Amino acid sequence: MDSIAHQVCLSADCRATYAADEVQFKCTRCGSLLDVAYDWNRAAVPNDLKFFESRWSTVGRQGQGRLDFSGVWRFRELLPFAEPTEMVTIGEGRTILQQADLLGRELGIKPGHFFLQYEGLNPSGSFKDNGMAAAFTMARRLAYKQVACASTGNTSASMALYASAGSTPDHPVQAIVFVGSGKIAFGKLSQALDYGARTLQIDGDFDDCMKRVQEASAKLNLYLMNSMNPYRLEGQKTIMYRVLEGLDWEVPDWIIVPGGNLGNSSAFGKAWLELKELGLVPRVPRLAIINAAGANTLHTLFNDRGLRWNDGRIDQSLVDDHFHSMDATGYKAKTVASAIEISRPVNLPKALRALAVTDGVVREVDDDTILDHKALIGRYGFGCEPASAASVAGLRLLLEEQVIDKDQRVVCILTGHELKDPDATVRYHVGDEQSSHPQARPHANAPIKVADDLDAICKALSTFE
Ligand code: F0G
Repeated sequence: MDSIAHQVCLSADCRATYAADEVQFKCTRCGSLLDVAYDWNRAAVPNDLKFFESRWSTVGRQGQGRLDFSGVWRFRELLPFAEPTEMVTIGEGRTILQQADLLGRELGIKPGHFFLQYEGLNPSGSFKDNGMAAAFTMARRLAYKQVACASTGNTSASMALYASAGSTPDHPVQAIVFVGSGKIAFGKLSQALDYGARTLQIDGDFDDCMKRVQEASAKLNLYLMNSMNPYRLEGQKTIMYRVLEGLDWEVPDWIIVPGGNLGNSSAFGKAWLELKELGLVPRVPRLAIINAAGANTLHTLFNDRGLRWNDGRIDQSLVDDHFHSMDATGYKAKTVASAIEISRPVNLPKALRALAVTDGVVREVDDDTILDHKALIGRYGFGCEPASAASVAGLRLLLEEQVIDKDQRVVCILTGHELKDPDATVRYHVGDEQSSHPQARPHANAPIKVADDLDAICKALSTFE
């Protein structure tokens, strides 16, 4: 196929190009990340986003209706790197924007102005399926038999699901997962094991796994499925398209997302950049990326060291200095939001571009604040895992700082399902000695122990408000 897609180096001083099918996750000339780029003049891009609404009426029909069932491939004209016949789908991205007035009221936002993009409802329970549909399509197209990733849990669960559901008798694909030995939440580990992934539990953390999986993939010719694979980000762009669709194609004022390896933030920035360049939106929202305080590399570099995108000329010495000082002090990321316990985010440059494109901000929130907001999100009808709650905790902070106004339209991304990490939920409500603030959990809802006796039960019930 004379592809309308190719890959291009992110660095403004290099801009080396590579064919779409070339497997290269970093520029061979300068070591920067690669972007997927398109010759939009040759792509069949509709001139109005409303075009995509018509796809709802063809869902499930023979032929391309199979793709319209997918919240990723429904938007295939905006990520045109594969032929429709090649696109792999397991029903990812069938998630919708939820108006969350009760939680909004708790935060002081006007009714009708606060929304949650509930990505926990994906087939594997997290937003990763959006990106995995795209990257797995590429793995199949390139005829790989083994796919690999490092993970804090959700990437591995998603990749393992695609490898099991996306294998065919004549093209089986094996998933190989690198997880750290400490923190992976049980819900996520159980998925990787159940879907048949070969799982290596490395004696190290996510950053160590990320390094090793790159080395092993290069040496053993495994297809790397982490978000430094630029096709992952193509799939994750569609989260923004669905947000727009949920708002009747009106651009919100703010998008708030937790930041870990910074794949989502990067994908969102690229989505808005392209929509703007294609003339499909009149303006772009502002992006707020929220780090956990115990894993705050982006926050430190962006807010304390002044690191900026600088039109593709990032001051790498600021990054190197920071990483050297982390090494020198033996710093390791540590947070209850295990999904974002990452200190060397591989997509840092792309996230800086996203911040530049959207006039974005970065904040950090501590573990107690994350857990309190997770409980509030659950209380008002939308369960999520701890990392996801960083977005709402960050919103509270930005409202207090008056960076966000209560009249603005705000969308928080709930990245992962509550059942990914039920231990964290139960520990919050029941309390445990490890908790840093065992007494002060304002939204705790512990079970009440009662004797097996009707009078005792009635007495206990009478204490409820
Ligand atoms: N929320 C959840 C639930 C996640 O699993 C992750 C990342 C993030 C947020 C952060 O997203 O990396 O795009 O900035 N989890 C990865 C994993 C690292 O291995 O599952 P990001």
